[in-house]
Amino acid sequence: MTIKDASAQTVLDRIETLRRELRRHEYLYYVLNQPEIPDEAFDEMMRELDRLERERPEFITPDSPTQRVGGQPSVEFQPVRHPVAMLSLSNVYSEEEFFEFDRRVREGLGGAACRYVCELKFDGIAVDLRYEGGQFVRGATRGDGETGDDISANLKTIRSLPLRFTVPGPSPVLHVRGEVYMERADFERLNVERAAEGNPLFANPRNATGGTLKNLDPRVVAARRLKATCYGLWFEDAHRNGWTQSRILSWLEEARFPLSSHWQVVDNASQAVEYWAKWSRRRHELPYDIDGIVVKVDDLALQQRLGATAKSPRWATAFKFKAERAATRLVDIVLQVGRTGAVTPVAELEPVLLAGSRIKRATLHNEDEIRRLDLRLGDCVYIEKGGDVIPKVVSVNLEERREDSAPYVMPDHCPACGSPLVRPEGEVVRRCVNLSCPAQVQRNLEHFAARGAMDIEGLGSKLIVQLIRAGLVRDPGDFYYLTVEPLVPLERMAQKSAENVVQAIARSKSRPLDRLIFALGIRHVGAGAARILARHYGSLDALRAAPLEELQAIHEIGPAMAQSIRDFFLAPENLEIIEKLRRAGVRLEEERQTARELPLAGKTFVLTGTLERFTREQAGERIRERGGQVAASVSAKTDYVIAGPGAGSKLERARTLGLPVLDEADFIRLLGL
Ligand code: IVH
Repeated sequence: MTIKDASAQTVLDRIETLRRELRRHEYLYYVLNQPEIPDEAFDEMMRELDRLERERPEFITPDSPTQRVGGQPSVEFQPVRHPVAMLSLSNVYSEEEFFEFDRRVREGLGGAACRYVCELKFDGIAVDLRYEGGQFVRGATRGDGETGDDISANLKTIRSLPLRFTVPGPSPVLHVRGEVYMERADFERLNVERAAEGNPLFANPRNATGGTLKNLDPRVVAARRLKATCYGLWFEDAHRNGWTQSRILSWLEEARFPLSSHWQVVDNASQAVEYWAKWSRRRHELPYDIDGIVVKVDDLALQQRLGATAKSPRWATAFKFKAERAATRLVDIVLQVGRTGAVTPVAELEPVLLAGSRIKRATLHNEDEIRRLDLRLGDCVYIEKGGDVIPKVVSVNLEERREDSAPYVMPDHCPACGSPLVRPEGEVVRRCVNLSCPAQVQRNLEHFAARGAMDIEGLGSKLIVQLIRAGLVRDPGDFYYLTVEPLVPLERMAQKSAENVVQAIARSKSRPLDRLIFALGIRHVGAGAARILARHYGSLDALRAAPLEELQAIHEIGPAMAQSIRDFFLAPENLEIIEKLRRAGVRLEEERQTARELPLAGKTFVLTGTLERFTREQAGERIRERGGQVAASVSAKTDYVIAGPGAGSKLERARTLGLPVLDEADFIRLLGL
């Protein structure tokens, strides 16, 4: 920016001094917890900066401390594709299981022992923060691991997260990964406020964090005092440059990111167990919830060698703490019919507080489990929250059993349709095998429309129940033939909402293939497997035609999954559904982003000299990602020559031919970075 007059320069100098100071005090206060000045002095500086920026809006930059809570509430979050999938972690629950993890790691590395980094496992919401040239540009949720929601505006309100860093980074573009969480005291305070306002309470700090991050108004988020802790850094080629997890954590510390200081490098698995045992005892001393520790192979090159499964890396695991327990009374046992007809008994309990949440239901898995526990109505039971979110009944206090209690008898008819339940030989579950059982039909339809599947907004279970009752839908294919008219008279519907639902259904026709595969509800095929299948086959028809052996040969697809995929496509009623979808215009193929739609489509680039922010390879990749091509030599067909310092004959030739020559700054602009 060119500054015309001296007074403008003075204002800009003052603005920059204030920003520097405010950033330092934010760091001292929010990251280190060691404020040097009273809050009033901080607020005073912030007000001065805000005033100067209002007078001179041309000086406002997105990383100014005044820009943390800005703008209007948004209407929805934009999807963000993660450059590298955000995987989750495998879990181990005991020392034995942890040693087994360590054994697998060593085996994977050819027998050698390796150093681990132990960290606390924060119980919050995973986020990804993208920085370009040291500036925060975007923050996103994990979402389904591949695509999350852009929640930048909400993340900017977390004062400990730097909007820029000034130490040299390992790469011009990098992603910091971490966890957003809420301290227990802030959570309690929030619930007290909500109770006073008559709003529903959050069950635990994690839910409160998730709910807050999804709030569309950053001002609400700013008031909730979310915290963040960082544990990961992703940049290209990290594993090739001698980086380690401990170096990443040190770098994050140096770059002033918030992170827990309790991490530790250990030489072997036994030391990791000691770390786990220490924090199992001491977890309650922390002002926030942790649900275990995370153990990671330190060396990134070794991490790379170990690789990952579809869901989680092989070089790290979450080592969970032992479950917390509570006692309560069993009021009733109800049967739930799942999507595949499996009937699951669920315990209805007298509400009780367990590990921070109010519990009134717990899973009982199956009838064998009820028999094993000899569970009877009215019993006093112990419930536990293990690794799962859903609590389970673990035992009965027999001393408190009422004398007149009788063993529980599992009903042998489906609670939804009355047909007899079947328990196939060798299986523990009873199933309702009536394909038109309303409970199953309903669950299938709910699954199809759910987030993560076809994601049809407004098509929730209440509406689905009504659609079934009114005879408007029997299978997912029917959704696409719904019209506005018959929806209007349904409960809680009107002209506008009916139109919205029909439009939302129409929009879902172009969901990616993997979502469709997942939505079909093929047994054992989760979202991750659906992605693998979509990528492998590229169309639903190709998947349908895939022979069993071929499916089994795909690394991540096990025999049970392969068989159930085959079974699914052999059933005539499923083929009928697929035909209905096809006729309605639902996309049954992987979308190929046509090269024509990309910003650099059809353009040919030649790179010469050295660039500061990118290696040659990285620059080439950026160009290709945007639809362009990279050529080795300059010709009349070249559209742009990107020249850095040290450029030689290619640059000369470009000049002779009169081709556009861009320097690195122009190039970055052209890439839209
Ligand atoms: S590393 C690929 N480290 O745990 C490895 N995760 O299922 C990715 N979490 O919600 C995770 N503390 O956000 C890692 N110190 C830590 C963590 C941590 C909490 C969360 C993570 C995700 C879940 C992993």
